[in-house]
Amino acid sequence: MIRLENVSYTYMSGGPFEKKALDDVSLHINEGEFIGVIGHTGSGKSTMIQLLNGLLKPESGKVIIDGTDLSEKGVNIRDIRFKVGLCMQYPEYQLFEETVLKDICFGPLNMGLFQKEAEERAKFAANMTGLPEELLDKSPFDLSGGQKRRAAIAGILAMEPKVLILDEPTAGLDPAGRDEILFKIRDMHKRMKLTVLLVSHSMEDVAKLADRILVLNSGRVEMFGTPSEVFAQSARLREIGLNVPQITMVADRLRAAGADIPEGIYTVGDCYRILLPMLKR
Ligand SMILES: Nc1ncnc2c1ncn2[C@@H]1O[C@H](COP(=O)(O)OP(=O)(O)O)[C@@H](O)[C@H]1O
Ligand SMILES: [Mg+2]
Repeated sequence: MIRLENVSYTYMSGGPFEKKALDDVSLHINEGEFIGVIGHTGSGKSTMIQLLNGLLKPESGKVIIDGTDLSEKGVNIRDIRFKVGLCMQYPEYQLFEETVLKDICFGPLNMGLFQKEAEERAKFAANMTGLPEELLDKSPFDLSGGQKRRAAIAGILAMEPKVLILDEPTAGLDPAGRDEILFKIRDMHKRMKLTVLLVSHSMEDVAKLADRILVLNSGRVEMFGTPSEVFAQSARLREIGLNVPQITMVADRLRAAGADIPEGIYTVGDCYRILLPMLKR
């Protein structure tokens, strides 16, 4: 579904403030995968995802989406934007219509759908994100933080993308709001068979949801593997300024204290299954 081949990107190239944000990134993501993208601030996460829907163009290398090389002549970037839905960080700043419904319909109408179909899709999308229908006639500015986030995500879902990319969708929400949104994202991934890229600061969230985790460090791919493979390298993760899930930390400390616990533990369930027989002994 997504292929990056030796992709590099530099901001303000040639100027005194030149900044290489991505450096020779190559990776494949399969259709239907749930990918967690993590990395320290400034590691290139937002840059990478903007390359995936054509908002940014690579300085070198190829971005291939669903078989289409975005750099080829005649490729309609508009179509790519509909296929790869990108929910930017703090999307609530992009809500601007009089009502929530109109806001969610904006994308589908922009795609050329008729009002009725756009509204049907908007209602379905609102439902998927857990936004109550009675809020659809309100002004987006009357919504709570979590509701605004849902409205923004619904606006993207209503375009029926194949890939849904979310840049820190839970940033700034309280823990309850955060869990609800993550739960809904998991739901959408399953029910709509979406390929999902979730950019997150939180190892706990990513560990719970992702099939594979992409770790970026200074614009390069540091690791790309299953949660267990990635969290087995907890020392390296800490070196590059990232946390590991709390349960991985517990397992690491028990191992350091002499307990026979394998690397790559990241769920409470796994730790429990390993500890229980040891405790019985
Ligand atoms: N518009 C921009 N102009 C100049 N430099 C930028 C711009 N956006 C990002 N950068 C720089 O590029 C690097 C990668 O940034 P970004 O992709 O936003 O990382 P992340 O999302 O992981 O925090 C950082 O060093 C950042 O300062
Ligand atoms: Mg970012």
